[in-house]
Parts: sequence; C-alpha cells; structure tokens
Amino acid sequence: MSKLLAFVTVAVIAQQAAAVAVWGQCDAGSVCTYSNPYYSQCLPGNAAPTTTPQPTSTPPTTSVPATSTAPPSGGSPGTGLNGKFVSHGKVFWGSCADSGTLNIAANAAILKSDFGGVTPVRVLTRRLSDVQGQFTFGGSDALVNWAVSNGKMIRGHNFIWHSQLPSWVSSINNKATLTSVMQKHISTLGGRYAGKLYGNEILNEDGSLRSSVWSNVFGESFVQLAFQYARTADPKAKLYINDYNLDSNNAKTQGMVALVKRVNANGKFIDGIGTQMHLSAGGAGGAQAALTALASTGLDVAITELDIANAAANDYTTVVKACLNTPQCVTITSWGVSDTNSWRASTNPLLFNGSYQPKPAYNAIIGIL
Ligand SMILES: *[C@@H]1O[C@H](CO)[C@@H](O)[C@H](O)[C@H]1NC(C)=O
Repeated sequence: MSKLLAFVTVAVIAQQAAAVAVWGQCDAGSVCTYSNPYYSQCLPGNAAPTTTPQPTSTPPTTSVPATSTAPPSGGSPGTGLNGKFVSHGKVFWGSCADSGTLNIAANAAILKSDFGGVTPVRVLTRRLSDVQGQFTFGGSDALVNWAVSNGKMIRGHNFIWHSQLPSWVSSINNKATLTSVMQKHISTLGGRYAGKLYGNEILNEDGSLRSSVWSNVFGESFVQLAFQYARTADPKAKLYINDYNLDSNNAKTQGMVALVKRVNANGKFIDGIGTQMHLSAGGAGGAQAALTALASTGLDVAITELDIANAAANDYTTVVKACLNTPQCVTITSWGVSDTNSWRASTNPLLFNGSYQPKPAYNAIIGIL
C-alpha cells in the first residue's frame, strides 16, 4: 500500500509540475494539462486552460427549502433538448448552475426550456466547512429551491474529495476523528436535501486512490464509508462515484471499474459511475468504449460535466449516440449553458453561444434525437 501511495503521490506531483499524462490516455497531439489540484484534462498542444468562474457567493441563510415527501421528479420534460432526450427512455439532460448563472435571465430561460436537471457548481456539497463545525447553505438552498420550484432534477456534487479541503481537515491524522468529521459532513448536507436529489456524486476518485487525507488515514475503506453515510442521510438519491478522463476505455477507466467492483463486492454501496467528459476537439472517439466499460459493472452511468472544445456537431453527436446506445447511460449533464459562462470559455465548448443562441451542435443533437 505504501508503495502504491508513493507512486500516486509522485504521479500527481509530476502531473502538476510538467503536465505529464499520468494515465497516459491523452492522444497524440494533446497534452494532459494541469488546471488545478482537482482537475487535469487532455487539451490540444499546450493550450492553457481557463479558470472556472467561482460561483457568486451568497450570504448564509437559515431557511430550509420547503420539505416534500414526493420522490425527486423531473416535472414536465419540455419540448427542447431534455424533452427529446427523455423520449428515448433517459432520465434527464441537465446543466450545471449556480446563483450567478440562475440570475442571468437568458440562461435561466434556457435551463427551463431545454434542461431537465441542475448540478451545482461547487456550492452544494463539495466543500467541507471552512470553519470547523459551521456549515453555510445559502448558495445550495437557492439552487435546490430553484430546481424544486421549476420541476428540475438535482445532482449533488460532491461530498468527499482530495482537494479544496480546509486545513483543519487535511491535518487530521487519526481514523476516529476523521470518521466523525466525514459522518457529520455527509449527514448534515445529505440530510438537509434528503428526498430532493435524483443523484449525488458522493466522491470524486480514480481507481488508484489519490493521495489524500482520506486514503492516507483510511486506505480504500473511506470509499465504502462515505457511501454508507450518504445512503443513511438520503436513501432516495442514486449514489455515484465520479471522475475526469474516463473518456475512453483507458487505464483510468479500468481502474475505476475495478475499484467499484471491489467496493460493491461487500454490498451495493455505489449505484452509478459518473464520467465528466471534458473533451478536446475530436476527442469523442472513445466515448462509446468508456460508457460500455463503465456499464460492465452493471451500474448506472452518467455523463456528468460534458463540454467539447470547439463544440463540433460531429463530436457532440458521437457522445450522444454513445449514450443512446448504452441503456445504462441515464443522464447527460452539460457543464454550463452558454460559452460565455464556461470554465473553458476560450474554446467555446457548449451548446449555446455567447448570445445564448443555439449552436450547430445543438441543432445536430436535436436532429438525432
Ligand atoms: C450567436 O448566434 C447568433 C445566431 O447565429 C448570432 O447572430 C450571434 O452573433 C452569435 N453570438 C455570438 C456571441 O457568437
């Protein structure tokens, strides 16, 4: 185990320093490009990734979203992109959203007409509270309330992660303390929105287990533990493990499949696997193989953060066809509506342009649905 952790640590450092393709899955002509400690992707040449705009901060509020006993439902699927996708037996086509983008009228109008679900950009469940024992819910309550009142499904995103941890968490070095911190975090956030989430990305991890306070203190057992706490907090939500660069049947995809099988050998803790699918131009060729490999676990599969540099119609339809061809591929989530709000804005990777008008890729997808 220490050998494995040492390898992973070295690999991560190498990736940060020299943009080395840790998993070797980037095609010729693209480079595994380090964006930040939680995300790298295959980009053509040496293109510098743009930074995701931080969600608009919202003051904490004590108001809890109205409780409902109804299971999460998509409301009316609409006649746009989501409606057509759902007509193929899929659950929803969603988009990420936050207080900033919900307050842009043109953006909100497209979310209503063309998308059936929302995933928060960082505000919902991602961070452990910066101050020990204190949680802030303003941004996540606002998003959940918007989704519930507009009949949109919700994917949570994500409880446990190796990155963006406050130092009071990353410095914990004993199991008992870390267990109680994990349990409090998951039960507080999961419990607050229980019954409202269609799915929740419980943790981002890859098959190797990145070096983190979680893997260092627990070994692999933190994966099962996080899913157990999440199930208790919200028995209705489908619980996902999620990560980036699961874009072909590469070593990382195989590592994820193996990890999920090991964890679920003890019971069905994990319901689904999310592949983020931030693709480079021309990078959709492995999508079918990735979805097939992930579906070989018998679990649901979701494309959780789709965007494709240049948004070529052919790249997009390749991904959509792969999902249509894979019965277990239940949802697609675009990582934003308009290029102007994309974390990769310079590559124009989304389905609506900077004026919130549908692009050729949007029309091509509608054409095959
Ligand atoms: C968006 O598309 C519309 C229609 O094709 C076009 O008129 C407009 O200039 C485009 N806006 C941007 C920012 O590309």
